[in-house]
Amino acid sequence: PNAPPVLAIESSCDDTGCAILDADGQVLGESLLSQESHAPLGGVVPEIAARAHLEALPALVDLTLERAGLQLDDIAVFAATTGPGLIGGVIVGSTYAKGLAMALNRPFMAINHIEAHVLTPRLPEPAQGPAMTSTKTDSTPPSPAFPYLALLMSGGHCQCVAVEGVGRYRQLGATIDDAAGEAFDKVAKMLGLGWPGGPAVEKLAREGDPHAYNLPRPLKGRAGCDFSFSGLKTAVARQIAPYGMAPLPRQVAADLAASFQQAVADVMVDRAANALALFPEATTLVVAGGVAANTVLRTRLQDLARAHGIGFQAPALRLCTDNAVMIGWAALEHLRQGGPAPDDLDLPPRPRW
Ligand code: KG4
Ligand code: ZN
Repeated sequence: PNAPPVLAIESSCDDTGCAILDADGQVLGESLLSQESHAPLGGVVPEIAARAHLEALPALVDLTLERAGLQLDDIAVFAATTGPGLIGGVIVGSTYAKGLAMALNRPFMAINHIEAHVLTPRLPEPAQGPAMTSTKTDSTPPSPAFPYLALLMSGGHCQCVAVEGVGRYRQLGATIDDAAGEAFDKVAKMLGLGWPGGPAVEKLAREGDPHAYNLPRPLKGRAGCDFSFSGLKTAVARQIAPYGMAPLPRQVAADLAASFQQAVADVMVDRAANALALFPEATTLVVAGGVAANTVLRTRLQDLARAHGIGFQAPALRLCTDNAVMIGWAALEHLRQGGPAPDDLDLPPRPRW
């Protein structure tokens, strides 16, 4: 690598990640460990997560360096998620990265997890092999260009963000109760589908009729772009209640999954349309976060963008869910603004940011 690498750590929920990127955003090495100990418990247990991050990190950092063919001393900048997230995990990851930065006398950059999700669609695609001349060179600016509208939907967050530039964000709306992914996870649990629920609900929904149940579309048609999912979740529970302790017939579960997914999609499209009206400067609609991996939601939002005559972009599926590459990319975006790397050693880990 001709440019100094950034080593980044992610540990704000149940994924422990480490990634090394060069200054162009090429991923030199990456490792990601998704904690499995939470599945039997039906959700992330913060204390278990924090301990698991602590146990995994040293080996994960070593493995990532090995994959990149680098030594710790080759790293120019250390970065870590410093919030928002489950505070135990955030403390573990950011303190580990700060320790490395201090020991090697390199700068430490505190990265906001939400900002990383929102900027990740700009990460350059890897070059398509040596035979092809990559169109993305140093002089090609990352796309989408600013300004764009980001719809972040994950297990912990659900919000519309006007992205005007690096470090320039306006929250146009957010969830007033559950996050979208949380709703998927809770509905999956009710349908007996295990955890994490999003992918399971999507899969089962393919066998179901999205019009079988007339579920509510909370806040649809109202002004603004806040979200609400708890009423929808309760409506699903009400449909399941008559079955008592008996297992749900498969077709009922599939129809409920499909109807629920359709309701979420309708709400997302309605909220995003309002956000676009509030932020007409947006040239692209960007979706990010774990729920953005959902093909039905992606397709509906892509249609919305097309109807508005603007671009649509979603990160590669593996970059939608939590990972450390996005943390490294957010650090690079700030470094690309010019000036020396900020030294955030004194910045405390933040559960909310
Ligand atoms: O971004 P992420 O990995 O973690 C947070 O920062 O929260 O998002 C995880 C969430 C989980 O709630 C999971 O159920 C949901 O994303 N998810 C999905 C799909 N894949 C993951 N939800 C709906 N459809 C999917 N295909
Ligand atoms: Zn996330």
